[in-house]
Amino acid sequence: MTFSIGATGSGMGPGHALERFGSDEVEGRAFNAHVVVRFLAYLRPHWQRMAAAFLLTIIGAALALASPYLLKVAIDGYITGGDAAGLTRIALLMAGTFVGVYLTSAGQQYLLAWVGQRVLTTLRAHLFRHLQILPLGYHDTHIVGVTISRVINDVSVINDLLSQGLVTLISDTLVLGGIIVVMLSMSPRLALVTFSVLPLMLLATFLFARQARVAFRQTRSRIAAVVGDLAEDISGMRVIQAFAQEGATQERFDKVNRANRDAYIAAMSLSFVFLPSVEFLGMLATGVVLWFGGLTVARGELTLGVVVAFLAYVTRFFQPIQELSQLYTTLQAAMAGGERVLGILDTAPEVKDKPAAGEMPPIAGKVELRHVSFSYRGDTRVLHDVNLVIEPGQTVALVGPTGAGKTSIANLIARFYEVTEGAVLIDNVDVHDVTQRSLRRQMGLVPQDPFLFSGTVADNIRFGRPDTPIAEVEEAARLANSHDFITALPDGYNTEILEGGVNLSIGQRQLICIARAVLADPRILILDEATSSVDTMTEALIQDALRRLLAGRTAIVIAHRLSTVRNADAICVVNGGRIVERGRHEELLARDGLYRELYERQFVDIKTEVNN
Ligand code: CTP
Ligand code: MG
Repeated sequence: MTFSIGATGSGMGPGHALERFGSDEVEGRAFNAHVVVRFLAYLRPHWQRMAAAFLLTIIGAALALASPYLLKVAIDGYITGGDAAGLTRIALLMAGTFVGVYLTSAGQQYLLAWVGQRVLTTLRAHLFRHLQILPLGYHDTHIVGVTISRVINDVSVINDLLSQGLVTLISDTLVLGGIIVVMLSMSPRLALVTFSVLPLMLLATFLFARQARVAFRQTRSRIAAVVGDLAEDISGMRVIQAFAQEGATQERFDKVNRANRDAYIAAMSLSFVFLPSVEFLGMLATGVVLWFGGLTVARGELTLGVVVAFLAYVTRFFQPIQELSQLYTTLQAAMAGGERVLGILDTAPEVKDKPAAGEMPPIAGKVELRHVSFSYRGDTRVLHDVNLVIEPGQTVALVGPTGAGKTSIANLIARFYEVTEGAVLIDNVDVHDVTQRSLRRQMGLVPQDPFLFSGTVADNIRFGRPDTPIAEVEEAARLANSHDFITALPDGYNTEILEGGVNLSIGQRQLICIARAVLADPRILILDEATSSVDTMTEALIQDALRRLLAGRTAIVIAHRLSTVRNADAICVVNGGRIVERGRHEELLARDGLYRELYERQFVDIKTEVNN
């Protein structure tokens, strides 16, 4: 038997999306005890229901075994003897077993679904909790679509195995073993003749399982590629349309989509070859029983009832075998999925609180970077020996060319990443020695790329303090100069924000982010100004809002606006990961260095723009 899997040499090529999104497929082992043990723990809280499901399974299996035997008793005991009352009894008994099978199967399915959905929910909750504490560095390097596929697809195959799979395994093994025992006890000779098709069966199953393993692994990595490609293209839709690349993007998507289809068809055609061949072997066995059993009955060595019971058992014999071989593919999918899910769960949060980490006391506002060096990945340093002291209440502006390391400095102060060397101190306390929560609660961040969640405008403003009354929300919005434009929105503060805030302008988003920071009332404020993407009116509003927001707080402002820079207590010029100049605006201008150059090239442009 040869199967073509389309995986090798089919000429369709993996496509680059597949390489990007599907390549971290783990080499799926058929069985990995470590994975199984880890996930079995999720069944523990539900052990009573699982035990009940197992019990029902065993009863169901026994009942299923009983009915062919009742057939034999009916034929040999009552039909041939013409015992009508006995026949009625057997018929009722048989009806009873059918009702029993029905009830046990319904009960078992219900219990498994109940447990299964709870396991699924818990597992997803654990994954999500872990994703939330993973360092930003993890999310920097992992494709969103693929992480989504872990939480949705991989978790569900694990659950398939845990709930359905385990029970199928047990019930099928029981049924199979039961049939063998009953057959052997009714007629050892006929049983052995029937089993003569088994070696063929085993060979077919073995061949199938081996091919299926490769084929189903292909389908899994290709569906991950489809999800990954889709997620990226949807978030990049604006750029795709702007550059009129719909055609090329469609082509790329079609390629992964077709690759997924072909892999799936190839995997399924394995089943299409295998399942009928199992059926064929079943019919072969039926023929053997009919022929050999018939001859034995004719010779008077066996009763008709035994042969009929055998015929019934033979048809039941092959179903568990089919199911078990299917279970093998479930097992593999679950092992591969399980390894990947554990890959996430076992990724240690890089930024981890020390066991002895205390609470950060109320912050006065001194910020210090002491000999800080930093790299995001590997050895590529993006900051080199940065030293910076900001006294409480001061505003320090960071300026410098793009890619200089300004946002990176902000990231370290908020402790989104760990310093590679040196230390970040707040009020002379190493940020290492306190919990992240207690630290971040006292810090505010207005990111370079203002992010809004779906929900109302008001909810976005009170994001850091969800139970803030609306009056305070409005108060914060007023301070942030956002109140007027918010009330002009169709539903005011209750206007629903579309995903990513697309129904607001960038400037409006920024104003809302500033209001969010105002409400949080942080002691230290980090403001990563978006490049001047706002009109002069909004610019003035933001400036005014900032002036109020910065008063009385320590502020690190990554500045693109001349006015912010001018008003700062100190300006640090960052270049190539180093602070190369520092001082006040006039001092730096007089120095004739990088600041002057930047000022002349960049700020003057903005200034003229503003003045126009
Ligand atoms: N970088 C990185 N990984 C990240 C973020 C940044 O490797 N997750 C690198 C960038 O390639 C850049 C350097 O770190 O070379 C500094 O980046 P950043 O601090 O973000 O630069 P900024 O000075 O903030 O630049 P901009 O003005 O464009 O915001
Ligand atoms: Mg930046």
